[in-house]
Amino acid sequence: MKNTVVIGAQWGDEGKAKITDLLAQKADMIIRYQGGCNAGHTVVTGGKTYKFHLIPSGILYKNTICFIGAGTVIHPDSFEKEYNELKSQGVSFDNLKISPLASITMPYHTEIDGYSESQGGKGKIGTTKKGIGPTYTDKMARIGLKIQDLYSYEALSEKLDIILPLKNKQLEKVYGLEPYTKDCILSLCEKYAELFRPYVATDWQDMLNRYKDKTILFEGAQGVMLDIDYGTYPFVTSSNPIGGGASTGSGYGPTMIDEVIGVSKAYVTRVGEGPFVTELTDKTGEQIREIGHEFGVTTGRPRRCGWFDAVIMKYAVLVGGITNVALTKIDVFDTFDEIKICTAYKDCRNDKVYTSYPTDVFIHKYLEPIYETMPGWKTSLSNIKTYDELPENAKKYISKVEDLIGAPIGILSVGPDREQTIFIQK
Ligand code: GDP
Ligand code: IMO
Ligand code: MG
Repeated sequence: MKNTVVIGAQWGDEGKAKITDLLAQKADMIIRYQGGCNAGHTVVTGGKTYKFHLIPSGILYKNTICFIGAGTVIHPDSFEKEYNELKSQGVSFDNLKISPLASITMPYHTEIDGYSESQGGKGKIGTTKKGIGPTYTDKMARIGLKIQDLYSYEALSEKLDIILPLKNKQLEKVYGLEPYTKDCILSLCEKYAELFRPYVATDWQDMLNRYKDKTILFEGAQGVMLDIDYGTYPFVTSSNPIGGGASTGSGYGPTMIDEVIGVSKAYVTRVGEGPFVTELTDKTGEQIREIGHEFGVTTGRPRRCGWFDAVIMKYAVLVGGITNVALTKIDVFDTFDEIKICTAYKDCRNDKVYTSYPTDVFIHKYLEPIYETMPGWKTSLSNIKTYDELPENAKKYISKVEDLIGAPIGILSVGPDREQTIFIQK
């Protein structure tokens, strides 16, 4: 296998973890390079379901190094919870490594996220309330804490003398929240230091050098349409889920990447606020939600559902750097008479047609999807193992999607299990 990045091509929850887990069999190292415990990644294998948030989905393989890179943000309590849950399922963490450069989500970050979201109405993003935005804000403002700070009293103390007066002023004056004492933060940091100690890769440069000629799998979280630069801003997350994020967040530069697999559902879902041109608020949307079990792994929220949108997917192929697509959950349509694909948008104010994605999301409320309707296959795809065995209408659907998005579909997922996967070589 070539060095591969797995990214979400839509608004997250496309089935990235299933594809990562599948490819992880052939990888020597897996790197989570952005995001944090806002992600909810599900792997189903051997009759067991594993839920990951920050820990790379490759942890199920004993010989694969799982590295949490510098571009991630780590919320210690969530990490501990995830760790304990996986441990109770028999998962071992011998191969887990954490970058000393990863950022730490502090309690005040989750409090600020919660406060901002609870204001309701205007400005609400519908975040996971995991403190993601405030942690990245502080990182960019150069007032964040990194894992390595936990092991240097001097660094921590000096940093806190700068950070805390600013943070406390903000907490009290802007948000009406309680301030933190330096002692309180120092004792929390002592606890965090112990929690992460066995896993901190102080030798990460040597490790990356040693693995340079091996097979690396980069595991993305969220999706292109949630990207801070390219997504439906401001209704986005605060990191770069695009393929390029793998370079900045992992420690390996762009020349280390051979392929970017864009994972996309055969339809679209979204959690949280923000535009969604093909959203279905009718019975069909409910049907997709029920059959596809579209409820969030991290927050349990029902996911908004809609038809496949070739306009955003074509955009994701471009800005995500996608070379190959993994199309998931196609089995959800097994009982459908017909399936729609959005090929363009029409602005209802002036009938202007968009075949390329309009990045100004404030006009999205005026956009109507233009659909092409494909006949369903009306049979279960769940046990099909090869492309040749697929019903003709499913093959036609796949070809249509490929034509519209300008990228090949190399993997077809027909069920949640590792085994329910078809590798397409045409
Ligand atoms: P991720 O965040 O992109 O890793 O995706 P999630 O784990 O949040 O959501 C994907 C959900 O769909 C999970 O419950 C998976 O087990 C499930 N899933 C993945 N691929 C398929 C598929 O091809 N068919 C069906 N029916 N379910 C799938
Ligand atoms: P995975 O990796 C789906 C969404 C939130 C919200 C926006 C900002 O499982 O695909 P944040 O907490 O990141 O500040 O929230 O991004 N969001 C996700 N939606 N899947 C995810 O991760 C998501 N991570 C964040 O719902 O709309
Ligand atoms: Mg998810």
